[in-house]
Amino acid sequence: MPHYIMPFAPLRLRAAAWTAPVLLALAFLSAWPAAAQPEPSYAERYRPQYHFTPAVNWMNDPNGLVWFDGEYHLFYQYNPFGTRWGHMSWGHAVSPDMLRWEHLPVAIPETDSVMAFSGSAVVDWNNTSGFGAEDNPPLVAIYTGHYRERRLQAQYIAWSVDRGRTWTPYEGNPVLDEGMADFRDPKVFWYAPEEKWVMVVALSVDRKVHLYSSKDLKSWTFLSAFGPAGNVTGIWECPDLFELPVENRPGETRWVLDVDNGGAAVAGGSGGQYFVGHFDGTAFEAEHEDTRWVDYGKDFYAAISWSDVPPEDGRRLWVGWLNNWTYAGDIPTDPWRSAQSLPRSLSLRADALGDIRLVQRPVEELQTLRETHRRLDARPIAEGEQDLTAEGIAGAAMELVVELEIGDASEVGLKVRQGEGEETVIGYDALRKKAFVNRYGSGEKEFHPAFADLFEASLDASDGRVKLHVFVDWSSVEVFADDGAVAFSSQIFPSPDSDGVSVYAKGGAARLASLDMWTLASVW
Ligand code: FRU
Repeated sequence: MPHYIMPFAPLRLRAAAWTAPVLLALAFLSAWPAAAQPEPSYAERYRPQYHFTPAVNWMNDPNGLVWFDGEYHLFYQYNPFGTRWGHMSWGHAVSPDMLRWEHLPVAIPETDSVMAFSGSAVVDWNNTSGFGAEDNPPLVAIYTGHYRERRLQAQYIAWSVDRGRTWTPYEGNPVLDEGMADFRDPKVFWYAPEEKWVMVVALSVDRKVHLYSSKDLKSWTFLSAFGPAGNVTGIWECPDLFELPVENRPGETRWVLDVDNGGAAVAGGSGGQYFVGHFDGTAFEAEHEDTRWVDYGKDFYAAISWSDVPPEDGRRLWVGWLNNWTYAGDIPTDPWRSAQSLPRSLSLRADALGDIRLVQRPVEELQTLRETHRRLDARPIAEGEQDLTAEGIAGAAMELVVELEIGDASEVGLKVRQGEGEETVIGYDALRKKAFVNRYGSGEKEFHPAFADLFEASLDASDGRVKLHVFVDWSSVEVFADDGAVAFSSQIFPSPDSDGVSVYAKGGAARLASLDMWTLASVW
């Protein structure tokens, strides 16, 4: 059952102007528990130092990612009134580099009857909607209106002509209503060959997406359906559809349909899958039947890509929600809940069998956060563990680029955020040919039984080497293996003092071919 059909918390006080003095008075009279929001310090235990988090309150999916006039916009599912899901509205921030964010007021609030669920945003360059002018193209957000009183979801639009600072709902909303209860998360893009807008939107419980087209963003015509396909155990949410180059086949491209799986993804609970295929302006057709996962960790969901990244840049960029519905409401952070993943740039690569797979790389902009650099010379890793902390390889916010030679070890790897009884293990099981991330011992985990876990993904390492690109933050680890072919995103909640790093080998000796470490600056 989708989480939001579950009964809402019985009563939630709305933050109206009068509530603060009343609550304060009540606090004195009867120690009323709901005091004012704590001031964020950005140094709170577990506060990510270079991942996006709202200052306070609950966040889930990234929404409306669009680049315009020098700014990356990040909207996000936001509850302005508390640290649990509810009152869904679009929070908003802008950044020149997807790392250093300026927090802006809520862009699209819920209304009395309709919550603002996930969706996308575009620059309407030709003013097809008529909301702007030729010389001032409007930004148009396309999102799902979720009706509180009846089982209905329909697509809404809102527009801005002041660089996204203020938004006006379209008076003709909804613009697409099929009378369905689970019909959500529209992602819209401009299909230049036919000069039209295309929307991909999920029919969640049917495990399908529908494609629609429009000339003006206001009136939409059905084009085609895709699915059920791939993994259909969990519901489908937050689709995206885009074309990418195949990096090892010059001149070739494919279309990628990304769709999230709420409930039965590869690592359990929420996760993303993708289909590689062809899109002719009307229908998407996949060229494979197997299920392909976007990320093998438990914490990468509802990713969508940025619209309107300038052609001279040319990258397809995205972020995902660094969380999982299974335990999202229980993670031990305060006064905010949830982070977005690192921004990643996407491409495709044909593997040894000729299958075309998604490749994700952390964006180059991250290099601007690098501070202290240390490099270790190549050295053997005898069976056992080698603590590197004394050599200056340590940190709670850092980047590691590591190359391991498997040698005759059965397992080789790296431990990060190591301390008193704590470690997060990033390893390679040579016998089973699996890369893995083990967070059983990563730190706080009692808040939910499904949190402590081990995640794995097939990785061939046929040349006897494993290359890992690792980003460690105060409450997460993101691992990119095999030059972006495999990604693992994981939250962790270690003690702030657990900042050690080790390498280890089991069942034989391995070798550290190279290790580079940078401590990373805080963006706050
Ligand atoms: C995905 C999702 C979307 C929905 C939003 C509601 O995490 O369930 O399908 O639009 O969250 O907050």
